[in-house]
Amino acid sequence: MARKGPISDKQVVVVGANRGIGFEFVKQFLEKGNRVVATARDLSKASHLTNLKEQHAGLELTELDVTNEQSRKDWAQNLKNIAKAVDYLINNAGVASWGGLGQLTEDELLHCIRTNTVGPLMVTQEVLGAGLLKRGSVVANLTSKMGSMSDNTSGGTYAYRASKAALNAVTKSLSIDLDDKGITAVLLHPGWVKTDMTRHSGLIDAQTSVAGLISVLESGKPLVGRWYDYKHDEIPW
Ligand SMILES: NC(=O)c1ccc[n+]([C@@H]2O[C@H](COP(=O)([O-])OP(=O)(O)OC[C@H]3O[C@@H](n4cnc5c(N)ncnc54)[C@H](OP(=O)(O)O)[C@@H]3O)[C@@H](O)[C@H]2O)c1
Repeated sequence: MARKGPISDKQVVVVGANRGIGFEFVKQFLEKGNRVVATARDLSKASHLTNLKEQHAGLELTELDVTNEQSRKDWAQNLKNIAKAVDYLINNAGVASWGGLGQLTEDELLHCIRTNTVGPLMVTQEVLGAGLLKRGSVVANLTSKMGSMSDNTSGGTYAYRASKAALNAVTKSLSIDLDDKGITAVLLHPGWVKTDMTRHSGLIDAQTSVAGLISVLESGKPLVGRWYDYKHDEIPW
């Protein structure tokens, strides 16, 4: 379902929100007048979020490790006490892995896939199972152009590419399975962004990226099963 117009007075959940793109999502959704549940793995180390909470009564802070089943279950239970519904679930948490052929370890490959693919799917399943995704809800998964088959002209980066390509497949299935419930699943590519993940070597800042991605969600464009970047361009699979 394509919803057009500013996102405000909604319940948003941002997963992996203590730094980088996730933190910027929290800031911008709050500035637009939404209620936000932000997650961090360790709130005692999430000073940006705890400082932001002092300025925004609409911000709730929770702990979640997307790779840990018990953490996901406890978090979803806690979320039920905080929110009656989730209008926007932003699955942003992710890890990079730049290893090329000859340097790969099975552990690194699996950690990347566990975080970037299994994490968002299981978190979505928990939120759905908790009855918090309703008609009109949007699940936005942060992917990367590096998961695109047609864009891969340079090879390498096995774990990250595989984890995001698998996330794309997962999101496509979610978009089909959730569509008849009126729940939208969409993929977002933030661009090459100056964050810890890129060692701040990106082309754009997180503010520009997130403003663009939120404007995609507000644009009224068809979202179900689509894949957009922050400039509203559709990314080839
Ligand atoms: N930056 C880019 O150019 C770019 C490009 C394409 C796609 N993306 C995607 O955009 C998303 C955000 O990237 P970013 O650049 O903001 O990365 P970042 O600065 O490295 O931040 C990653 C976030 O994910 C969290 N996270 C990592 N593992 C987690 C886990 N197991 N459970 C819960 N949270 C976890 C981190 O929490 P901790 O602080 O606890 O580690 C942190 O909040 C990622 O999915 C990334 O793949 C980024």
